[in-house]
Amino acid sequence: MLRITLAAVHLVALGLGLGAVLARGTALRESASNAALRRAFRSDTTWGIAALLWIATGVWRVVAGIEKPTAYYLANPVFHAKMGLFLLILLLEAWPMVTLMRWRRNFSAGESAERLMTMGAGRRIATISHIEALLVIAMVFVAVAMARGFGSRPG
Ligand code: HEM
Repeated sequence: MLRITLAAVHLVALGLGLGAVLARGTALRESASNAALRRAFRSDTTWGIAALLWIATGVWRVVAGIEKPTAYYLANPVFHAKMGLFLLILLLEAWPMVTLMRWRRNFSAGESAERLMTMGAGRRIATISHIEALLVIAMVFVAVAMARGFGSRPG
């Protein structure tokens, strides 16, 4: 039951996360409005939840050897590639995360969406979000190959 739950939550995170990061990017490309900015904030929250679910279920599966022994993953270059892509997403996300946290505070303090979204950062975060979506899709290809034995040495 644990095995099924962890695998299912990992995939639910994929549905939530990919949709949310695309929606965040799209909302930040719209012309500035309170509605667009609120939509971007909501998508950003969902993207954060998906990241926590991925990390919690993924690390659990590796450390507890739920699907395959821990050593299988640690020695598998395809798994390393998956982790490399994930690290790249985390690095790309650092600046959007702090910027959007600041925007949330300023927006609640009364600063207008027009002012926040037209400073140029909105479009940059939108581009980063869509690049992150492509990296998530790349991770899916790498993950399904790794789960099916690619990268593991025979014998
Ligand atoms: C953007 C983040 C992630 C995405 C899109 C993703 C995607 C996937 C997908 C689609 C699978 C299913 C493969 C299949 O059974 O066909 C999978 C399995 C798995 N993922 Fe992730 N994953 C992510 C993050 C992580 C992280 C952070 C870890 C661990 C640190 C992790 C560890 C695993 C493990 C251990 C499996 C099971 C593989 C097996 O069946 O042997 N994942 N992932």
